[in-house]
Amino acid sequence: MKRIRSFSAVVFLITLIMILYLTINLETTYSYKAGPEAVLRDITVQAGNSNVKTQSPHVESFTIPQPRVHNMSISDDFRNSIPHNQAYWNRLLHLSLKNLDKWDDPLRHDPHWSHCTKNEELLKTNIPDFSSYPVLFQDFVRGMSCMSSPVLISQPNKCISQEGRRGNQTLLLLAIKSAPWNFEQRQAVRETWGRERVYHGGLRVRRVFVLGNSPLEHPDLSPLLSFEANNFGDLLQWDFKETFLNLTLKMNLFFQWTLKHCPHASFVFSGDDDVFVNTPRMVSYLLSLKGSQAYQLFVGDVIKTASPLRDPKIKYYVPLSFYDGPYPAYAGGGGFLFSGQLLKSLYSVSHFVPFFPIDDVYIGMCAKAMGISPQAHSEFLTFDIKVQDRENLCAYKDIILIHKRLPVELKQLWKGIHSPFLTC
Ligand SMILES: *[C@@H]1O[C@H](CO)[C@@H](O)[C@H](O)[C@H]1NC(C)=O
Ligand SMILES: *[C@@H]1O[C@H](CO)[C@@H](O)[C@H](O)[C@H]1NC(C)=O
Ligand SMILES: *[C@@H]1O[C@H](CO)[C@@H](O)[C@H](O)[C@H]1NC(C)=O
Repeated sequence: MKRIRSFSAVVFLITLIMILYLTINLETTYSYKAGPEAVLRDITVQAGNSNVKTQSPHVESFTIPQPRVHNMSISDDFRNSIPHNQAYWNRLLHLSLKNLDKWDDPLRHDPHWSHCTKNEELLKTNIPDFSSYPVLFQDFVRGMSCMSSPVLISQPNKCISQEGRRGNQTLLLLAIKSAPWNFEQRQAVRETWGRERVYHGGLRVRRVFVLGNSPLEHPDLSPLLSFEANNFGDLLQWDFKETFLNLTLKMNLFFQWTLKHCPHASFVFSGDDDVFVNTPRMVSYLLSLKGSQAYQLFVGDVIKTASPLRDPKIKYYVPLSFYDGPYPAYAGGGGFLFSGQLLKSLYSVSHFVPFFPIDDVYIGMCAKAMGISPQAHSEFLTFDIKVQDRENLCAYKDIILIHKRLPVELKQLWKGIHSPFLTC
């Protein structure tokens, strides 16, 4: 009897210890993954709540794209297109994919490379010629796992309207990449193609400018920017350094903002503040799309067979020891369009595809990982039109986008193509 009693006491004790151990283990597992997991969970919840019931009678011919099932698998096509070799980015990617495959629930997973600031020794060990990289490129590599940045200016009510249910419907969100000091460009965009408007009695075009911050040694523009933000309600700003190599971070922060504050936008335009856009033509094009064309849209001026440029003096330089392989097909960053429905997947995928220094190439990579190829559209001219057509207003009536134009040229063109005297 005594033996049985002490036996059950031992069993009880062991069970207790096991329960305790499991609880602690679970807790550490969860808290370790709190960052990305929390973010991704958030998105899945939003996906479930998608509200697509709000259509006005005026827009019956246009069906708002249906939400897609959240899909975190990374296409074989993308996996196979990135060579397994010694280049740092290539190794990060394949490590991340390997880790992703180990988990049955990829949403509860933290890729190993995603710890924000990289230790200098680690970089020098993994990239033998790191010290020979241009200074800005070194800065990029040091910070390439940082996916967040303090918010300086936001517009949480941008996509909420006071005018009843219909007012919330955003057909097109214009996300215009701008630098803090580009005041004149932004004003020209506001006065021309970026004007917020309602089309067909309920479909809204809304506008935000997406900004980083001036370097510390530059003049402090914050009083001017807060005036601008209060006056126009269209600035988004984060506290990261506004440089070319930080544009991928900028795009990602914009994705986060949109998922939170404008999740029902049917389409998103991402472009520069020095492009000319024929917005009414862009809207007609969007309204003409049907079915999967509309909810899997990724369209622009497509660059199909590009490779990294290896001249350290140029803006687009990518060292061989950093990335080795071709680029995927991508839509030129001067301006492209995509479906709001793709945002959740794009953002989720971006947790597994390490940041790349060139933002439009990066979006091309993420799209390819999702199994989506960019569609070329002949009216997106990120490399301008023929010289003999540049003064010809009729040539501008039949295009959607042209890069690049000065603020004063935007004004002239906009006025010109809307002139009642223009016959073409
Ligand atoms: C998810 O995407 C992969 C490839 O990108 C595809 O093969 C698979 O069928 C998709 N699954 C769902 C549920 O859509
Ligand atoms: C508009 O959207 C906001 C935020 O998503 C929501 O709180 C509000 O109820 C919506 N308004 C209508 C009338 O649907
Ligand atoms: C990007 O921004 C971060 C945060 O301000 C900064 O530390 C980093 O140096 C920037 N990267 C580049 C390439 O300028």
